[in-house]
Amino acid sequence: MPRSTWPPCRDAVRIAPSLLAADFGRLTDAVHALEGSGAERIHVDVMDGVFVPNFTFGTDTVRVLRRETQLPLELHLMIVEPERHVHTFAEAGADAITVHYETSPHLHRTLQQIRALDCRAGAAINPSTPAAMLDDALECCDLALVMTIDPGFGGQRLIDSTLRKVTTVREEISRQGLQTEVEVDGGVEPENAKACVDAGADVLVAGTAVFRNPHGPAAGVAALRQALAG
Ligand code: DX5
Ligand code: ZN
Repeated sequence: MPRSTWPPCRDAVRIAPSLLAADFGRLTDAVHALEGSGAERIHVDVMDGVFVPNFTFGTDTVRVLRRETQLPLELHLMIVEPERHVHTFAEAGADAITVHYETSPHLHRTLQQIRALDCRAGAAINPSTPAAMLDDALECCDLALVMTIDPGFGGQRLIDSTLRKVTTVREEISRQGLQTEVEVDGGVEPENAKACVDAGADVLVAGTAVFRNPHGPAAGVAALRQALAG
């Protein structure tokens, strides 16, 4: 399965709509609506009912999404023992796979495993996990995901104190001279998008703000862009 082209945009802020807030009965419409919307990639939340108290998409859904869109698919695995499944998700068409620090006792190995599958590798930390837990793994990360809510559900309010960690992670990436992207996920909306970027985020995940916009997902992406420009 050919993968999408990952846009080499290091300067502009990237927006990654999360399908968690889309109508699950119309997922293909949701991804089609993002084509040409200005969103650079699609964020796919995979939940196992164990690490987080909710269930979402599996490999078969990822296969369908891959068939339906040219946009890069970034998978956010909120599952225990992710190392057992990264191979299948890569085969299903993932362009990037993020695993949680909290589920990965052998984080370097798992990140290397993801890169060996020709995917971008990401590591995520929960709001209560100190930023320093990522320091030694950053060199193996294409993406550092700072959760700005406790994972499991969309539509929650961003926890303000997590933005300090965004800055800490950003500074550590610079200190190590790495190109790792910093992504924020949870409760991102036009009202706080600029604060996220000012704190050091390169990529904004947004579910509710995009898919629950009354004028449609493209308007949701535009509202975030407008907030960043203002
Ligand atoms: C939650 C997910 C997020 C979530 C974001 O565990 O990781 O990606 O969908 O949704 P909003 O933007 O609604 O907080
Ligand atoms: Zn997510």
